Amino acid sequence: MKSHFSEARSAEIAIERMGPDAPPRLVEVMSSLVRHMHAFVKETELTPEEWEIGVDFLTKTGQICSQERQEYILLSDVLGVSMLVDAVNNRRPEGATENTVFGPFHVADAPVRAMGDTICLDGKGEPCLFEGKVLDLDGQPIQGACVDVWSDNAEGFYDVQQPGIQPKWNNRGRFLTNEDGRYAFRGIKPTSYPIPDDGPVGKMLESMGRHPYRPAHMHFLVTKPGYQRLVTHTFVEADPYLESDAVFGVKESLIARYERTDAEDAAWRSTFDFVLAPL
Ligand code: BEZ
Ligand code: FE
Repeated sequence: MKSHFSEARSAEIAIERMGPDAPPRLVEVMSSLVRHMHAFVKETELTPEEWEIGVDFLTKTGQICSQERQEYILLSDVLGVSMLVDAVNNRRPEGATENTVFGPFHVADAPVRAMGDTICLDGKGEPCLFEGKVLDLDGQPIQGACVDVWSDNAEGFYDVQQPGIQPKWNNRGRFLTNEDGRYAFRGIKPTSYPIPDDGPVGKMLESMGRHPYRPAHMHFLVTKPGYQRLVTHTFVEADPYLESDAVFGVKESLIARYERTDAEDAAWRSTFDFVLAPL
């Protein structure tokens, strides 16, 4: 029988079982997934023991998930899948700032702060002035763009990872660009840090001979009606992990300069302009 299982036609048989009323996009995505999974099993000649390790890994990955922790997204991140989904869906014209991975530590509705204000509330770290402009593809300033920023503290933790230890909204804030498209805020020179590695994904990285570190970066979410939402980071130049980011987030164009200053309130300055593509 054509519909009975055979090694040669395994994928087609599983795909053909879908009903006529299944939504076309679901059929397309599931067919491709089944085809690739069957090809993977055939290519590796996966043993039952290895299959069981995989099932056990996925079970543990699910079990550690909670309101605060999303281990599946982390799995997608460390396999480069999050960056690929982002790349496929954010192809931009030449000159527009590139996207990178969003990460799990953004918190919506951060305090709106005044131009030049500090986001560092715990007083730790090397003070750094972040400034630049938000521009359109023609180099014209975009006024009233929302520049939402977040970073880890000097010890490599986000405020949400240390409630009760760090002040709420530490190293976070939203800033609106002025008529010149300018934004400016004070924070700290970010530090590199490991992604949460105390769960199954951390164990997987270790067994694959990979480290869990991300190069130091400042997160930016830049929005303005009429323009594509920009989710990105700027990376600290010369960071030792730029070539081996655990989640593959680094793009050459996002590596920012950090200059020493003699200003009393900022040992460093990092200037970076963002260019938004129209919708
Ligand atoms: C982050 O940069 O905050 C991040 C991104 C992906 C996974 C974990 C953390
Ligand atoms: Fe981060």
